[in-house]
Amino acid sequence: MKGVFEVSSVEETWALAKELAKELKPGDVVCLEGDLGAGKTTFTQGLAAALGVPGRVTSPTFCIVQEHQSPDVLFVHMDLYRLHGEEDVEAIGWEDYLSRGAIIAVEWPERAGSLIPLSAFYVCIHHMGEEKRRIAIDKGSTFEI
Ligand SMILES: Nc1ncnc2c1ncn2[C@@H]1O[C@H](COP(=O)(O)OP(=O)(O)OP(=O)(O)O)[C@@H](O)[C@H]1O
Ligand SMILES: [Mg+2]
Repeated sequence: MKGVFEVSSVEETWALAKELAKELKPGDVVCLEGDLGAGKTTFTQGLAAALGVPGRVTSPTFCIVQEHQSPDVLFVHMDLYRLHGEEDVEAIGWEDYLSRGAIIAVEWPERAGSLIPLSAFYVCIHHMGEEKRRIAIDKGSTFEI
């Protein structure tokens, strides 16, 4: 999935996330980029719902990592905002999650540096208005919009 999409509600963001979720396989990483409050966690909620994760996905800012087990896959939601670099990210079990075949959604992926696989998906969210967002999705690279 690749392209730039305009959405005008949370529900449309969830619908877009659902489309991306159809392409995800165990071991995939989804990097979520965008300013504070852009909608990274909201997009992650859409991924989680589409992957069959029960319950609600909330902002993991204070716990850094949250694991959500769906019947089919382990979905891991990370918010690396408070971490400082690759060593911190390794310390929270990055490689272990990948080797277990988790699907990882990462907010503030810059902190993970070269740990991000080359095959990662990038979701870049720009705030355009109250509920309007421009969301760029690409695989293997990020691009500015
Ligand atoms: N179209 C939209 N898509 C996503 N979020 C939206 C949209 N319209 C309004 N919002 C609101 O914007 C806020 C986005 O917050 P969210 O926690 O998802 O952002 P975030 O990028 O994860 O922020 P942080 O960097 O603090 O983790 C929510 O309150 C959400 O309801
Ligand atoms: Mg967030």
